[in-house]
Amino acid sequence: MPATSALVLASALLGKGLSLQSSLKDEDLSLDSSISDEGWLAGYEAAVRNIGDISVVTVETRASNPMRLPGRNAGNSDAMVLNPGAGEPWQFYRTKNGLMLRWINETMQRDPNHLAIMIDGGDMIFGGCDEKFVKDKYKKILKASGGGPNMKLVMSGETACFPIEMDWHFRDNATWEQRRSAVNSQVENLTDDWVLPWTPCGDKKQAPCDPVEKRAYRYPNWGFVMGPVKDLYPLFEFVYANGGNPNHKRDTIDQMRAQWWMLFNPDKITLDYTGSLVLSTHQMAWGRKDSEAPIEIVMNKRGKPIIRNKILNQPCCFAHGNGDGEGLINRTMMMIIQMNNLTDAMDRAGLTGPGGRDLA
Ligand SMILES: *[C@@H]1O[C@H](CO)[C@@H](O)[C@H](O)[C@H]1NC(C)=O
Ligand SMILES: *[C@@H]1O[C@H](CO)[C@@H](O)[C@H](O)[C@H]1NC(C)=O
Ligand SMILES: *[C@@H]1O[C@H](CO)[C@@H](O)[C@H](O)[C@H]1NC(C)=O
Ligand SMILES: *[C@@H]1O[C@H](CO)[C@@H](O)[C@H](O)[C@H]1NC(C)=O
Ligand SMILES: *[C@@H]1O[C@H](CO)[C@@H](O)[C@H](O)[C@H]1NC(C)=O
Repeated sequence: MPATSALVLASALLGKGLSLQSSLKDEDLSLDSSISDEGWLAGYEAAVRNIGDISVVTVETRASNPMRLPGRNAGNSDAMVLNPGAGEPWQFYRTKNGLMLRWINETMQRDPNHLAIMIDGGDMIFGGCDEKFVKDKYKKILKASGGGPNMKLVMSGETACFPIEMDWHFRDNATWEQRRSAVNSQVENLTDDWVLPWTPCGDKKQAPCDPVEKRAYRYPNWGFVMGPVKDLYPLFEFVYANGGNPNHKRDTIDQMRAQWWMLFNPDKITLDYTGSLVLSTHQMAWGRKDSEAPIEIVMNKRGKPIIRNKILNQPCCFAHGNGDGEGLINRTMMMIIQMNNLTDAMDRAGLTGPGGRDLA
């Protein structure tokens, strides 16, 4: 991308109230906008401290801006989910990917091997896990996926394919299905149909589930991708600049572009087929009580709320409210904010033990 267009892009974005958080350190968090923005940032703030050297990068909208990421995979099953029109959202996805590419490019000049996690804003919550946990899962997933010298990127998976016409590329292909099976068994000792008890499959239209006998958590989701910046670069360049579908059909869907890149580069990228780093909740929550959802809030040893992945009985590093999972993630986020608010107030009052928050 030429530098001038990057500048134009950035200033256009700033005018629209979008901003790029390069790394979510405490000092970078400004709580000066709407409640919802504050909520999202506060939801992160609690745990980003624990991610160590790994940068978590997002491009976030302000609540006053009607363009909101979760509309992307929106199912009709959740009345609150926005259904994106044709023009504006692509503008947003394009700027999102363009800003991320710029950040990757800049970071690469300093440290090509710097590890980053690029995530969707707004509909993603950090559940609380540390750097060691993230790196350990990342390495195990790569290893189980074949782990060749080029294998450096892990993208999130999900139960349903969006756009739907891409499904067979992944579902009906032995390369991907064997890899999925290896990740399931080697990373978490899961059976290949682990998703079945957790999928009410409320969305029948936008990104529907496969029938039970074929259903699996196997499709690429662009809401999360992790790896060294030098390896993220060609993927983001492709998504931002080069498109994907050889026939240019529906080529303005960034997730589809990422899927094409994956199809062209099976040796470089794999999926978190077990939801060990990130659980995409589309088709996994809507239509059931929250108590039956695959995630829940629990308290850690220090009395802080974290999210537990009930399927794996582990911390859920990231939970993604894509598609019809948005409601569950909204409610979980609000609850964490309130709980943090409460424990912070207790810390300030010195009620959480000797020394208060510094020792916590
Ligand atoms: C990457 O950075 C270099 C050097 O700063 C610049 O020349 C180039 O245009 C940038 N590329 C992109 C895609 O941003
Ligand atoms: C893996 O899971 C199976 C049950 O599905 C269990 O019998 C086996 O002991 C587990 N293996 C390990 C290493 O935990
Ligand atoms: C399966 O997918 C891989 C990776 O995209 C591809 O190289 C291969 O040709 C596909 N196999 C079939 C039978 O389509
Ligand atoms: C989730 O929260 C956002 C931001 O507050 C809101 O715009 C959206 O309608 C909510 N969605 C659901 C399904 O509750
Ligand atoms: C946090 O707590 C303070 C009082 O301690 C309250 O005024 C504020 O509204 C709370 N914020 C949220 C998001 O619950």
